[in-house]
Amino acid sequence: MKVSLAALLAVSGLLANAQDAASAGGPGRPPLKPLVVPKALEDSINRRNLLKHAHQFLDFSKLSNNTRAFGSKGHQATLQYIKRLLDQTGAYDIEFEKFTYAYSEATSQLYVDGESYPTKGVGYSPSGNITAPLAVVNNLGCEASDFPEAVKGQIALVQRGTCQLGLKVAFAGAAGAVGTIIYNNIDAEPISGTLGAPNRPEGPYVPVAYISGLNGKAFIASIAEGNEVVANIRVQSFVEDRETSNVIATTKTGDRNNLIVAGAHSDSVPAGPGLNDDGSGSMGILEVALRLARYRVKNAVRFIWWSAEEFGLIGSEYHVEHLSDEDRQKVALYLNFDMIASPNSGYFVFDGDGDATDIPGPPGSEVIEQLYRAYFDSHNIRTGSAVFGGSSDYQPFVDVGIPSGGLMTGASGTKTAEGAEWWGGVAGVAYDVCYHLACDVVENLNVDVWERNSKAIAHSVASYALSIEGIPREQRPPVRSLRVSKLSYEERLHLSCDHDDDII
Ligand SMILES: *[C@@H]1O[C@H](CO)[C@@H](O)[C@H](O)[C@H]1NC(C)=O
Ligand SMILES: *[C@@H]1O[C@H](CO)[C@@H](O)[C@H](O)[C@H]1NC(C)=O
Ligand SMILES: [Zn+2]
Repeated sequence: MKVSLAALLAVSGLLANAQDAASAGGPGRPPLKPLVVPKALEDSINRRNLLKHAHQFLDFSKLSNNTRAFGSKGHQATLQYIKRLLDQTGAYDIEFEKFTYAYSEATSQLYVDGESYPTKGVGYSPSGNITAPLAVVNNLGCEASDFPEAVKGQIALVQRGTCQLGLKVAFAGAAGAVGTIIYNNIDAEPISGTLGAPNRPEGPYVPVAYISGLNGKAFIASIAEGNEVVANIRVQSFVEDRETSNVIATTKTGDRNNLIVAGAHSDSVPAGPGLNDDGSGSMGILEVALRLARYRVKNAVRFIWWSAEEFGLIGSEYHVEHLSDEDRQKVALYLNFDMIASPNSGYFVFDGDGDATDIPGPPGSEVIEQLYRAYFDSHNIRTGSAVFGGSSDYQPFVDVGIPSGGLMTGASGTKTAEGAEWWGGVAGVAYDVCYHLACDVVENLNVDVWERNSKAIAHSVASYALSIEGIPREQRPPVRSLRVSKLSYEERLHLSCDHDDDII
């Protein structure tokens, strides 16, 4: 028996829609897709698909010694995976925005009196094996005058804080120090970092070891008692130029004069595979992009996977710096998702109006904040506030006046008692105990929170793809220079900045 197509469609109730779509497409053109429906897009996001990507990302990290650091094999495989899945939908124009940046890795050891002390490597440090007495630097070592005569031929001992690690080390080199030990400004072990730039005009770098605040203070106390503390620091490091890319996918439908941009960074730190930081955001926007492909949008949506975020927002800064004035006007708003599945999560919404953090985003950012607050309210989830503090890829957009917002679930900051009451989890413990460490693997992901935040991304992207009512679209003033390039390393760097100040 032959069943007509029309009858089948009628039975399944699809006839009216199909005819609608076909006629809307016009004669000879493919039928138009249905216009996106926020609730439908949100409902299409599920943990099964997210976790499928997560296992892929972890596998990619195994191609390069358990990291997806920018330019590594694991990172390149991540970018190809994103491109391949998006290509298959046929719904996006995809571009690789290429740039080159100096990559560096370093490991270090410290021995004093035959005893070994835990250290972290500092990228861009020269290699070396140096034995010399320690000389204490005045203040925070942010001025050349903080380095006394005594550092000459010795190892400068300097506290972290206020200015870039690289500046302290360059001043130490200029003063004739043969090495530098930086100690943390809190008792805790430091998080591995970089000197922030491959070299500097203030002086030559010398080998660096980065130690805990507790050990730093112990050395200073011993020197204050009149002891000579002789240290041996050993650094193995390398620096190389790496070409890498931001991946930019723009919907083929929708008005490109009102671009909705959603971003996450594709790279991890060298120390680990970065499943939460920022696999979670990368996979969250990927999954939303894949589901959005079935729909038509009014405002074009652009998803961007930033590269080299962990070396200082390099990819996002490159992108925004290279936007013409005309193209900058076309970006209606920017949404950032960096770490949205922390194991001891909080639900943090960027503080667009600045009422919680005193740092508002550009006008319109408060509208984005309200959309997310309303979304979580409707799911009976309390929200905290994240600050536009320069530690992720929203910053270049904020700096040029583009309304911005986004979500995050916390990094190395500690969950408060109130936070534990609101969201469960453990008070007094970091939001992500595996932040920037090798243990940021699939098991580190809080899948419930990840799924909820990915649904929130879907809701926001679909809503703005339909309407940007409330978001100001006045002509933005021309940009003279990006603020981000002037920020101190500690302010702008994900890598050395421990995010404790990022949430309220
Ligand atoms: C791989 O990573 C481990 C741990 O970070 C490190 O000790 C080792 O030297 C690395 N191996 C290579 C080939 O980079
Ligand atoms: C580094 O120097 C120390 C002390 O001078 C020496 O014992 C050690 O073998 C050296 N290590 C390397 C890798 O050169
Ligand atoms: Zn990150």
